[in-house]
Amino acid sequence: MIHQPFHSVRPSGRSFQNQVVIITGASSGIGEELAYQLAVQQARLVLASPETEKLEAVASRCRERGGEALAVPADVSDRHQCQQLIQQTIVTYGCIDTLINNAGITMYSTVEEIEDIHLLEHLMQINYLGSAYCTYYALPFLKQTGGRVAAVASVAALNGVPTRSGYVASKHAMMGFFDSLRIELMNSGVSVTVLFPDIVATGMHSHVIGADGQPHDISHTVNYQKAMTTQVCVAQMLRAIASRRRQLMMSNRAQFGRWVKLLIPALTDRIAKRAVTATAAQNQELKKQCLA
Ligand SMILES: NC(=O)c1ccc[n+]([C@@H]2O[C@H](COP(=O)([O-])OP(=O)(O)OC[C@H]3O[C@@H](n4cnc5c(N)ncnc54)[C@H](OP(=O)(O)O)[C@@H]3O)[C@@H](O)[C@H]2O)c1
Repeated sequence: MIHQPFHSVRPSGRSFQNQVVIITGASSGIGEELAYQLAVQQARLVLASPETEKLEAVASRCRERGGEALAVPADVSDRHQCQQLIQQTIVTYGCIDTLINNAGITMYSTVEEIEDIHLLEHLMQINYLGSAYCTYYALPFLKQTGGRVAAVASVAALNGVPTRSGYVASKHAMMGFFDSLRIELMNSGVSVTVLFPDIVATGMHSHVIGADGQPHDISHTVNYQKAMTTQVCVAQMLRAIASRRRQLMMSNRAQFGRWVKLLIPALTDRIAKRAVTATAAQNQELKKQCLA
């Protein structure tokens, strides 16, 4: 059963037609689907992520769907590459209407078990600093167009989650950065939308960074029965960005968890612990049954 969306799933019409939109992390998952839904609206896209081949394939599928698409290989943890991404956009299209900071990675380890502490820096560099760098370099151009900035945060920006400490910290940092920026940009014409997806059925959990700093597949520990599809997730995100909403909570858990945390904070800790351990145990059991 697919998790029922908390908000309406109406598509965002043609809000992005002819608009120049940069998407980071566009080679797979949410970023890839953002590219396709925007291409259908005939947006002029700039797609960024580290691997040229994957990006070119997405760019070509965007052109088939009616959009323009420029693939710019870029690792957002490197601020020079973020600057080049923005420069290349301006050279090609002359302006920026929307920047969607979506690139991200996650982790799976308790703090105690981390073998290579660089893991924490790595998460911050991609998830938080990558978004901050791209936004910083794009800002003068976004002010010229009265554009939009969006940040794909997570429900993990709202609460602690065991085994995801570095990821959670990076998403809290993102939220703080974009909430501050929104105030600075009041009356500038530039909107800032922070998005809080819950579990989305992408391949993200098949390459999480483990205690040893290497990618691991932990998709068997994730309860995809409660996951939102990428199509529904992206349709909701685009509507929120188009209508310049300040934020979008994308599940009941995200929406109501905030109030529970205010009233009984220890309860949200227990719920988060139970969610992670119960899902892992259930899935391990399921895996054993399948292998038996
Ligand atoms: N899936 C979920 O359940 C979920 C829930 C809440 C929030 N989110 C957030 O949604 C965003 C997208 O996640 P997803 O589920 O779509 O994951 P995904 O399928 O793994 O996609 C992540 C994207 O980020 C790119 N990326 C990774 N490192 C990068 C770097 N250093 N520079 C530039 N791009 C980089 C990846 O490129 P490569 O493929 O080339 O590495 C890929 O295009 C993330 O910010 C994530 O935290 C996801």
